[in-house]
Amino acid sequence: MTAHFRSFQSNFLNKDDGQFTYTSTEQKRVEDMLSEEFEKRVEGEEVKNITILRERHAEYLLKNLHHLPKKYAGLDASRTWMCYWAINSMNILAADISEETKTTVVQFLKSCEHPKGGYGGGPGQLAHLAPTYAAVMCLISLQTEEALQSIDRETLFAFLTRMKQPVGNFTMHDDGEIDMRSAYCALSVAAILGLPYEKLSEGVAEWIISCQSYEGGFGGEPMTEAHGGYAFCAVAAMVILNRFRLLDIEALLRWVTRRQMKFEGGFQGRTNKLVDGCYSFWQGSILPLIDGEMAREGKEMPKGLFDARMLEEYVLVGCQVPTGGFRDKPDKNPDLYHTCYVLSGLSIAQKYSIEREGEVLGGSVNRLVPINPVFNVTTESEIFAAKHFFPDAN
Ligand code: FPP
Ligand code: ZN
Repeated sequence: MTAHFRSFQSNFLNKDDGQFTYTSTEQKRVEDMLSEEFEKRVEGEEVKNITILRERHAEYLLKNLHHLPKKYAGLDASRTWMCYWAINSMNILAADISEETKTTVVQFLKSCEHPKGGYGGGPGQLAHLAPTYAAVMCLISLQTEEALQSIDRETLFAFLTRMKQPVGNFTMHDDGEIDMRSAYCALSVAAILGLPYEKLSEGVAEWIISCQSYEGGFGGEPMTEAHGGYAFCAVAAMVILNRFRLLDIEALLRWVTRRQMKFEGGFQGRTNKLVDGCYSFWQGSILPLIDGEMAREGKEMPKGLFDARMLEEYVLVGCQVPTGGFRDKPDKNPDLYHTCYVLSGLSIAQKYSIEREGEVLGGSVNRLVPINPVFNVTTESEIFAAKHFFPDAN
């Protein structure tokens, strides 16, 4: 691979005009770290060590799936999430998951299902829309009849209905907060499981557009700062609702493409913040969502606004950890969350790179499995679920 990377070019370093602030000092620190990571890989005209270490990642994922180290005790309410992050990552890497592991995960998630519907973050915990999304997408990612049949769709529907609020959106749990995550979690789960969501949808699109900020992105609630996590939830929910056209698409496109960092190549979550690998998905997924909706209307997304190759460069230079797993940036440790969203974002970037550059960064050995950006499960998993839940449509 030649050293002609588009990221890590010194002419794109941040210019602070000698005015030091906390933000500009942090930005400089990240740029220095990335320059160092890049330089370590340059050998003459070649860039080395950008091959995806599939086996190391698979080992890392399975180790963390089966055993939560003591220091992660604080993540006890995120155990359903950990199953999803690990299984979705394994799928994207095309790594084998044994039948025994699949059954263990199904049984574990069953123990997190609440008798009154929905899933908690761990066994015996209160049902919450976020772990409900994670548990359902994990079960779908397992691609077995056992996994799909384990979902109690009737009580799940009752849970979603109970969370529905007169303002349009949903609470995250009984008496819980309302924010953009709940609209996405409730609708994505209902849509992928073939639950009737017409009544659940009432007023949701109107609530979502009230959260589009002056910058063009979306905040978690009306009048709050635009952020990649909430923007993904908003856009994907609008796609599910088939109300995408209500959005100010030009403003959204402008906002999301400006979140790609000119030196680092990866995305930031919000204006003036640092690059972070997880936004490879939260922001990166918004491009194929816009693209897909525009194509449905016979239009084309303007070209050259998003540089997929630069995103691949950030991930492989800045996020891949040689001992397994992916991280936010080079001074951070890898974790399951970043491994999942870095890989999902890289899979999206690769789709564009194949179209525009002819091959993915690092060559065909680096090709990942394509994902469906609406649900963040692999396309194969989504098709498997559709055959099960929509048998007449196939
Ligand atoms: C800011 O973190 C993070 C948020 C304000 C919320 C992020 C929301 C998501 C990731 C979406 C969740 C989606 C689902 C499906 C439940 P920060 O201040 O630590 O990070 P920053 O400096 O990068 O903004
Ligand atoms: Zn992150």
